[in-house]
Amino acid sequence: MSSSSERPPDWPRHVAIIMDGNGRWAHRRFLPRLEGHRQGAKSVRRAVEFCRRHGIEFLTLYAFSTENWQRPSAEVSGLMKLLGQFLESELDELHANDIRFRTIGDLTRLPARLRTRIEAGQEKTRDNQSLVLSIALSYGGRQEILAAAQAIAHAVKMGELDESSITEDAFSRNLYTQGLPDPDLLIRTGGEMRISNFLLWQCAYTELYFTDVLWPDFDDQAFLDAVKAFTGRQRRFGMIAEQLGAGERAG
Ligand code: FPP
Repeated sequence: MSSSSERPPDWPRHVAIIMDGNGRWAHRRFLPRLEGHRQGAKSVRRAVEFCRRHGIEFLTLYAFSTENWQRPSAEVSGLMKLLGQFLESELDELHANDIRFRTIGDLTRLPARLRTRIEAGQEKTRDNQSLVLSIALSYGGRQEILAAAQAIAHAVKMGELDESSITEDAFSRNLYTQGLPDPDLLIRTGGEMRISNFLLWQCAYTELYFTDVLWPDFDDQAFLDAVKAFTGRQRRFGMIAEQLGAGERAG
């Protein structure tokens, strides 16, 4: 992995990606779907390198949703295997490049071996600072919000939390993403224009970018195009342009 440089000030600090289109990529080549996911794993590596090189501090990738459990069992187990292989082949390099690895989602549903590997990876890289790579696994935005609400209700019931202390910050601290800033930019590859239960709370003011590029084809140029689109937008967070100062752009 090449060394990092300073992030340009108008670039996103946190990029989240819905990696869609692996199946279609494979189908167009008369290959099994799993081959599309295998190529997708190579794009993951490329995107991580891109972020590291350009000083993007947080990258969050949607690898497996709560709904994906309904896919044919061969695809589910193939994906689980691929995730394990990814950790095995990439973790040392992630660590050497000062990248922190973490997951968001309900890990209890994952195969025990994969969970153990994930936990070891998180532990090993926990103090790394240059980039936080979060992989969403068995993740659902609504489920995440429900789990947070339940945790908060429990804390109130136990007398540990006062109702009036349930602020946005307090709520965020009960989400899987606690400690991460909200994404500045959400990219979805594969041509669909929806959020598919990803980071529903966190994307309240996130800039959305949709591209027809299929995930296995998502290369540095495609990533740059997304960042360029982002830098050309004005983020007003509900205010009017004059309140933000002349020429204020995304970032
Ligand atoms: C969506 O494409 C993609 C997935 C459900 C899996 C994403 C997994 C990877 C990119 C590979 C492994 C990940 C890591 C982190 C190593 P799809 O199958 O829905 O594609 P389609 O819409 O074209 O059928």
